[in-house]
This record gives sequence, C-alpha cells and structure tokens, in this order.
Amino acid sequence: MKHFSLSFKNSKLTIIDQTKLPLKVSYLEIKTIKDAFTAIKRLKVRGAPLIGVFAGYSVYVSIKNIKTKSKKAFLKTVFNNIQHLKISRPTAVNLFWALDRIQNKIIANKNRSIKTIKTVIKNESRAIHNEDIKLCQGIAAFGAKLIKPKDAILTHCNAGFLATSGQGTALAIIYRAHKRYPGIKVFADETRPLLQGARLTAWELTSRKIDTTLICDNAAAALIKAGQIDKTIVGADRITKDGAAANKIGTYSLAVLCKYHKIPFYVAAPSSTFDLNLRSWRSIPIEERSPQEIKSVFGKAIAPKKVKAYNPAFDITPPQLITAIITEKGIIRPPYGKNIKKVIG
Ligand code: MRU
Repeated sequence: MKHFSLSFKNSKLTIIDQTKLPLKVSYLEIKTIKDAFTAIKRLKVRGAPLIGVFAGYSVYVSIKNIKTKSKKAFLKTVFNNIQHLKISRPTAVNLFWALDRIQNKIIANKNRSIKTIKTVIKNESRAIHNEDIKLCQGIAAFGAKLIKPKDAILTHCNAGFLATSGQGTALAIIYRAHKRYPGIKVFADETRPLLQGARLTAWELTSRKIDTTLICDNAAAALIKAGQIDKTIVGADRITKDGAAANKIGTYSLAVLCKYHKIPFYVAAPSSTFDLNLRSWRSIPIEERSPQEIKSVFGKAIAPKKVKAYNPAFDITPPQLITAIITEKGIIRPPYGKNIKKVIG
C-alpha cells in the first residue's frame, strides 16, 4: 500500500500515526472532536498544511452524526468544536486559516437546513484538501528550478508528504528535482526533541531512494563550514507580511549559519501559511511544549528529574536571512514587504 498522511473516504477520516514512525506504520480513524484535538496536540498529525486540512475534516466528522432538530443546538456544537480545535496548537496559521474558512461558510449558510450545513462543511473541507495538493505541486515546480544537478541540500524538521496532504513543501521540491537530477543529496537534521527529521524526513527520503544523510542538529555548522552543503530548504508554520518565518526550533540558527557562510537559505510554503494580518513577527505565538519532551527520549528519562527544561517548539527567522520564499504562486525575493503583497495579495 502506498502510504498517505491523511485520507477522507466515505466520510471516514484516517491519518497515519506519525508518533509511531518509522518503526511502525499504523493508521488511525478520527471520530470525535476529542480524537482530533489529541491527534493534533500529540503530533500524531502534524505539519502546518496538514493540520489545516485535518482540522476541516475533523469538524465534519465530529458533527456528521448529530441527530438534533434544533439548529441552535447544532450550530452551538459546531462552533464549540471549531473553537476547541483552535486551542490545540498555536503557531501554524493554517489551522486557524482552515477553521475560519469553515466557520465563514457555515455563517454564510446558517439559514439552510442542518443537513445542508453538514454538506457545506464537508465540501469546504474537501476544497481545502484538494487545494493543498495543488499548492504542493506549485511549490515543487517553482522550487525545483533552484536546484542544480549535484546539489547537497540541508533540511530541518519534516516538510514532506507527512506534513501536507500532497507531496510536501521543502521535500516536494527535492522529490521533483530528484526526478531530473538523481545525483542530488540531502542532509536531514534529526530535529530535537521530537526527532521529526530522523523519524519522518529520513523515512520519507530513503523510501524514495534519495541519497540521505542524517545528522545531529549541532553538526550542521561544521558541515556548512566544510563546504558540504550547497543550500538549505525548510518549511514554515507562519510567515508575516514582511517575510519573517516561524518554523521548527533550530531553523533560525541554520539561517544565521547560511548567511555567515554565504549559501542560500530558502523557505518553502503555500499561500495558506502567510498571515498578512499580523502587525509584526512579535505577534506570532510560539508554542511551548512540555519539558518532558527534552528530559526523556521515547519515554526514557535522560536528564535529572529536578532539572528545569525550556522547550519552545518554533523560532522565527527574520527576513534578512531568507534568500527567497518559494510559494505555489512563484518565488518571492526581497524586498519582502513589497513582493509578498504583489505575489500573495
Ligand atoms: O511541530 P511540527 O512537527 O508540526 O512542526 C512542523 C514544522 O516545523 C514544519 O517545518 C512546518 O510545519 C512546515 S510543514 C510543510
């Protein structure tokens, strides 16, 4: 069976459980709002675009079997479920973007029957899903133009098919480029503490027979200094109108390294990851996760019980460190303030 990050068939929502990878490939059906909330919170489903697609369908499956005849009661449950999902994770804007889309559609159709509103939610979720697949294709097509036949590319976290409902963002570019240039190499940061690079990116890339080398996060500087990396491509969870990009913790240090060593640092993201309403990068909410994620590995303690640990899940890379932002609408270069407006709108 070809693996998939998410499927919605016969009104049944299924995801691959990313916490089990790569040791076990298992799929999970999401039936309730509680299932959906837990799946996002625990990173069973993760990656900014995928969280957005997942949230839409989750709202639908959470209300599809409601039997009430009271429109008021029905809408109350739907809106509560939407609000509940909004507090699962704060940084990836795609979650809010998708839920707001669903909510706006419901409001526009609020005078119609409960049955119709259910269909509206299902159709809007499907539209978000289909768009996401196309956005990945667009990013891949534009981004692949930046890749040279023998490039060694560094990536961080996981921005592949597991993080979207298509082929990914940063990794979609690599997949597309690899078809043309099979000699490209990828270096994947392991991505402490939850090891998305080691568990997910390395799994994706090696299953596609792409020359992949896993490195500790702190090995990147030495490799870049030794001239072993030609460019870095990462994904993003939220991009501001002036081009600051929030992504997995550790991304900012890679951008600083690339600037110092004069190699390109690219961010690949769909238009659904831009948050043009934010006044500045300072308003991006950075998720802080449990200290236990640092103090243990796969449930096994690796640090003294009493030591404090600080675990921000994301950092923000300022625009002056980003060579270009690769979107489905084109490659955006500085000055970002002007060019993001022109390309994204
Ligand atoms: O905490 P995660 O695993 O959800 O973080 C994911 C990332 O930081 C990805 O790089 C980002 O969402 C882009 S995915 C195309």
